[in-house]
Amino acid sequence: MAIIRFVAPGFDKTIRFDVAAGERRTLLAVAKDSGVPILFNCESGDCSACVVHVETRAPGTLPIAPLTEKERFLLTAIGLLTEPEIQAAERQGISADVRLACQYALGDEEIVVLFNNDLGGA
Ligand code: FES
Repeated sequence: MAIIRFVAPGFDKTIRFDVAAGERRTLLAVAKDSGVPILFNCESGDCSACVVHVETRAPGTLPIAPLTEKERFLLTAIGLLTEPEIQAAERQGISADVRLACQYALGDEEIVVLFNNDLGGA
């Protein structure tokens, strides 16, 4: 079961749902379906409107999804992550916490998603 707590200034909502085998549902899709006001625009990993911070609720037990190639490219291009930061996280067996909600494919995870629902991202 996925357990996602969405947190923003004045907003705190926890969503629980089962992830079917082989299902690829993004964090943004779940947020939209659940009335969570994460900003978005392109929904294809090209604009950075949907930047969020993702943290595990139980560090060391439920890893967050690995960065996609689109996330890696865009987040380093706009300076929110650096290659050394990404590589340092990967050496520890974890993923960077700055993510694109439209590209983050959810699994059975227990995570906290921090976002700003005003212009300027998380
Ligand atoms: S909505 Fe554009 S990168 Fe996610």
